[in-house]
Amino acid sequence: MKLEVATLHPPQGLAALIKDLGSGENGVGGTAVPRGALTLDEYLLFCSETNDHSNLKSGNIPRSFFWFLDDEGVAIGIVRMWHYLNKSLKERTGHISYYIRRDKRGKGYGREALRLALLTLRDFGKKRALIITDLDNIASIRIIQENGGILESVGMGGEERKFGRYWIELEI
Ligand SMILES: CC(C)(COP(=O)(O)OP(=O)(O)OC[C@H]1O[C@@H](n2cnc3c(N)ncnc32)[C@H](O)[C@@H]1OP(=O)(O)O)[C@@H](O)C(=O)NCCC(=O)NCCS
Repeated sequence: MKLEVATLHPPQGLAALIKDLGSGENGVGGTAVPRGALTLDEYLLFCSETNDHSNLKSGNIPRSFFWFLDDEGVAIGIVRMWHYLNKSLKERTGHISYYIRRDKRGKGYGREALRLALLTLRDFGKKRALIITDLDNIASIRIIQENGGILESVGMGGEERKFGRYWIELEI
């Protein structure tokens, strides 16, 4: 399994993964592809342009999109990463979000996707990562804890949903 930086060239299974993500889940945003507002190629262009930080407008925070590939090279998950946190990202979003295709859940892929994402963030020079998840998202909390997450604080989101702010130390 590996994380692959999103480029113009889609890995195997990407269309099915984007369809599965649909309009998003648990704060992991969907794409405009399923509703026909973007083609998959146009979405890939958006991802690869986002991943290119060389022309970032002043004040914009660099972020990166990755596909999580299984051992056959099929895309079964998505990882999105903010390289720095402003006030609002620090309060409600965190550095990393992750998504695993529904029919692939419960097999340890989510835990592995976060582990690889943390290694990547460490390679970007970060010493610790903030991960934020709703407190009713038991699978996500397990994944964070298994990757060393320590709960720092609890906040209240929309519809009275509580979220936890977890920090993970990244060994350098
Ligand atoms: C959260 C998510 C990534 C989990 O992916 P996954 O591949 O199923 O996770 P894993 O298989 O690695 O499971 C991790 C742990 O959660 C547990 N778990 C998985 N699904 C569970 C469920 N529905 N209820 C309770 N525990 C669950 C697993 O048993 C495992 O715990 P264990 O190691 O103690 O056995 C996936 O459900 C998902 O993509 N959800 C939508 C997006 C999301 O919520 N992202 C997180 C917020 S950024």
